Amino acid sequence: MKSVAILGSTGSVGVTTLDVVERFSDRFRVVSMAAGNNLDLLVRQIERHRPDLVSVATASLAAQLQQKLGSSSTVEIHHGSEGAAAVATHPAAQIVVSALVGALGLGPTLAAIAAGKDIAFANKEVLVVAGEVMTAAVRERGVRLLPVDSEHNAIFQCLEGRGRSALRRIILTASGGPFLRLPRDRFESVTVAEALNHPTWRMGNKITIDSATLMNKGLEVIEARWLFDLPPERIAVVIHPQSVVHSMVEMIDGSVIAEMAEPDMAIPVAYALAFPDRLPLDHLKPLSLVERGNLTFEEPDPTRFPCLRLAYEALAAGGTMAACLNAANEELVAAFLAGRARFADIPRHIETVMTRHHNGRARTLEDLYEVDGWARAQAHALIGPTAHASI
Ligand SMILES: NC(=O)c1ccc[n+]([C@@H]2O[C@H](COP(=O)([O-])OP(=O)(O)OC[C@H]3O[C@@H](n4cnc5c(N)ncnc54)[C@H](OP(=O)(O)O)[C@@H]3O)[C@@H](O)[C@H]2O)c1
Repeated sequence: MKSVAILGSTGSVGVTTLDVVERFSDRFRVVSMAAGNNLDLLVRQIERHRPDLVSVATASLAAQLQQKLGSSSTVEIHHGSEGAAAVATHPAAQIVVSALVGALGLGPTLAAIAAGKDIAFANKEVLVVAGEVMTAAVRERGVRLLPVDSEHNAIFQCLEGRGRSALRRIILTASGGPFLRLPRDRFESVTVAEALNHPTWRMGNKITIDSATLMNKGLEVIEARWLFDLPPERIAVVIHPQSVVHSMVEMIDGSVIAEMAEPDMAIPVAYALAFPDRLPLDHLKPLSLVERGNLTFEEPDPTRFPCLRLAYEALAAGGTMAACLNAANEELVAAFLAGRARFADIPRHIETVMTRHHNGRARTLEDLYEVDGWARAQAHALIGPTAHASI
């Protein structure tokens, strides 16, 4: 029996994780869960999985949750970043699913590592912001960082049992999102509904917008740099609209090894939870390449999708530039979703914030938080108070 803590239980990855746990209840049990403000779903999850401890975003949500659960409930309720850290460091937890969204997952994920927990890692922004700090902590504590992001999980699977000296480069695949064929002049008038309509994956809103701008792939390039310790020139991106090949590794003899499946996050989640075992996911549709017919691949277009270029530039710049890019992106995506920024403002304003940033090495976590706060304020100033009817 493996004890699991889930950061972000009410999110898309969190819900998939709970489904895997439930299907394999002889192998896993949930001991703690952190959510934001979706109390109705959290109550249902608590009733079903009976964790010892939960956390929600604020003190007032914690009070509301207590009321909903009733006085007979024995679940310990925490809130805020300290609450999420309590979830991540539950003494019984052996693996922590890091699936909050955005840089706010940094503190709890680092707390889990410091407490010696293995990490099933989905919350990519954390590695983008603090890759150096986090990988150093993972090495120091000797814990496992198991990728849940489908591309990184694919690469992890392809590399398993193979000597790293034989690796030439990795190739991340990208669906291309809903705007793969959209003419350049239409990017200004993209609506939120259009951007949320991802062709192959159903995910949380933030990552869905990131997929539409290709920033998601850019964040994944930075994530791969830290997970697999590779320089940017050995991390390639190729557009593959069918999302069947989840990523590939190219070996020094020219062999390319790919991981393929019908797109479903249950596969990487189950792989990370059960590693080094594999679980029988018989409920999923098996991949039929004959039925699928064509699998196609093409170069990403850097003129229509500048976010990918910006992420490579942040990686090349090093220091705190990736933290700056991430914070500006989080603010711009939130503003776009709220109808306060245009879709095309996302790369435009991120680039301005990056240009203004005085890059340097982060010596402490506080340095990273400072850059994060500065970049968010800069992005806010650029967004301004005007509402755009883009919803
Ligand atoms: N979805 C995917 O298929 C997928 C694939 C690969 C990687 N990822 C990565 O995994 C992470 C999660 O993605 P997702 O799609 O699952 O996101 P999501 O559906 O938006 O879920 C985010 C989770 O974080 C919680 N949360 C948000 N703000 C919070 C706060 N202030 N305090 C505590 N909890 C808070 C949410 O709680 P409430 O909903 O209760 O507010 C929810 O449980 C992201 O970094 C994403 O890039 C996702």
